[in-house]
Order: sequence, then C-alpha cells, then structure tokens
Amino acid sequence: AEPTPSRATRALAGFTRIGVVGSGTMGAGIAELCALNGLDVRLAVSRPASLESAPRRLAASLDRRVAKGRLTPEGRDAALAAVSVGTDLGDLADRELVVEAVVEDEAVKLAVFSTLDKVVEPDAILASTTSALSITRLAGVVQHPGRVLGVHFFNPVAVLDLVELIPTLLTDESVCRRAEEFVTALGKKPVTVGDRSGFVVNALLIPYLLAAIRMVESGYSSAESVDQAMESGCAHPMGPLKLADFIGLDVVAAIAEALHAESRQPLHAPPPLLSRMVEAGILGRKSGRGFHSYA
Ligand code: CAA
Repeated sequence: AEPTPSRATRALAGFTRIGVVGSGTMGAGIAELCALNGLDVRLAVSRPASLESAPRRLAASLDRRVAKGRLTPEGRDAALAAVSVGTDLGDLADRELVVEAVVEDEAVKLAVFSTLDKVVEPDAILASTTSALSITRLAGVVQHPGRVLGVHFFNPVAVLDLVELIPTLLTDESVCRRAEEFVTALGKKPVTVGDRSGFVVNALLIPYLLAAIRMVESGYSSAESVDQAMESGCAHPMGPLKLADFIGLDVVAAIAEALHAESRQPLHAPPPLLSRMVEAGILGRKSGRGFHSYA
C-alpha cells in the first residue's frame, strides 16, 4: 500500500520542504512521489499553462492509485494539497532540497541553477535529475558548489527503484549522505556513481537503443521484430524501440549528443534517422508516433 500522508507534513530523513523545478515526466513523477511521502512540495513550472495542467495530471495519477485500491481517498486529497504550483523560482526560497528537472538543455539548466543559488538558503541542497549533462558544470554557476549533486530518477518514477546519486569532485560529504538518506527514505535504491556523461544507466542503455535504431535505419530488421526479439529473448519489459518511444526520441537524441560530445565515440552518435524523426516532430509516445504508433 502507498504511504498515506497527513495534511500536516512530516519530515523524511530530516527534510520537510522540497522544491521541484519542471513539470514534465520526471518533475511530475518526483513531485508526486514526495507528496505521497508526506512532504511539502513546491513545483515551479515555466509555462503559465502548466499552472492548470500540472495539478490536473497529478490528480489524475492519484485517482488511478485510488481506483487500484493502493491509496485511500484521504491520502489522495492530502497528496494533492501537499503540492503547490507556481511560475516563480523565488517561491522556492524556504526549500531544504530543490530537484531541477527541466528540459535536457545545458543553457536552460545553468540559468535555473544560477537563480536557485541566489534564492535558497546557503545550507539547502541543489540537485539535478539530468541524464547526461555534467553535474560539475551546473555546480560551476553556484557560489558554494559543495551543495550540488546529481539525483537521477528513472521513468516511471513511481515504478522504478533506482536513483543514481552523482557527487562531483566538489560535493560536500554531508550533502551526499543526506541525499542518500533522503532517497532511501523515499523507498528508492541509490547507487553512487561518478560524474561522467550518462552515469551508469544511460552510458549503457543509450548505445543499445542507438544500435537498435541503426538496425531499423539500415533495413536489417523491422521495429516490431527488434522489440519482439528483446522482449521474448531477453525478458525485457519493453523492446528498445518501444523504450526509445517511451523515453521520448528528443530526449534520446539529446542524451546521445551529450554522450557523443564527451566521448567522441561513433557508438554514441545519433543515427540520422533519429535526428530526422526529431526534426519532423515524431517524438515517440508523447507525440502519438515514433517507431510505433500510439493513436
Ligand atoms: N505511474 C505509476 N504507476 C505506473 C506507471 C506510472 N507512470 N506506469 C506503470 N505503472 C504501474 C502500473 O500501475 C502497474 O502496476 P500494478 O501491476 O500494480 O497495477 C505496473 O506499473 C505495470 O504497468 P502496466 O501493467 O501498465 O504495464 P507494463 O507491465 O508494460 O509496465 C512499465 C510498464 C513499468 C513502463 C514497464 O514496461 C517498464 O518497466 N518498462 C521499462 C522502463 C524503463 O526501462 N525505464 C527507464 C527509462 S531510462 C530513464 O528513465 C532514464 C533516462 O535518463 C532516460
């Protein structure tokens, strides 16, 4: 059963007030997870339209939990009340931990970190859930880089246990320890890894997804056959092209670009087919079409 939060928020591993920046797949999932664990969550969104859509999507997700008998209606109401949404990063001033989950674009993330650094208290932790950008470079725009680390959740946040923790050469030991205690208290299994593009999961996963895309690109195999082969032959829950569609082809391409920029290895270069699909707005599940159709 899901934990049932009370309206009065409670501390989790010493944290009470959490900020999340970005209400995309990852930000929304992290905000929901924190709210279900009784934390006070402030969600900062960039587009005014998200002020209305983010709470609506949160309510719909919580309703699904109630319908499945995993959450009480009271738990749903408490989790919904625990999340406030706004467009001003200044509203995160009293947060003890802020998780940045904006678009996978370094310039955008640097601007967020630079602002957060001026807004939050000096002892607040600043975390990024980037998949492949350098945590060290993000920490570079922060006055006290010791408070910055990567806290990388996986999609769907509610389902997958892993969190990669990525300290830089400058991250304070106490910040690593507090972050590890926090994600463990959220029910996740942390692994601590170095600040290299892609960390562990994407450094292994993305070359595999790109290899599958090249099989389709060359006419070697259909998307259906590649997916069926890996689902039936290796017991993966999703074949690689379904998974690329699920992650979002724009996100896969952005991670590949970041891996390639650091490693300069051909296996990390986005195949032209992937680039053309992204340019055409064929982004996978979220756009209704990717390697498969989602009409
Ligand atoms: N929120 C909450 N619960 C969810 C959910 C969501 N978004 N999506 C699925 N679930 C739950 C379902 O409710 C269901 O739970 P119950 O069995 O208790 O009812 C369970 O997960 C299984 O879901 P389904 O039966 O609908 O479908 P499925 O068996 O095909 O599982 C899946 C769906 C969990 C997404 C599964 O296909 C899967 O694990 N796929 C691989 C996902 C993966 O590899 N993600 C990593 C991507 S890489 C990444 O995130 C990092 C990055 O930086 C890009």
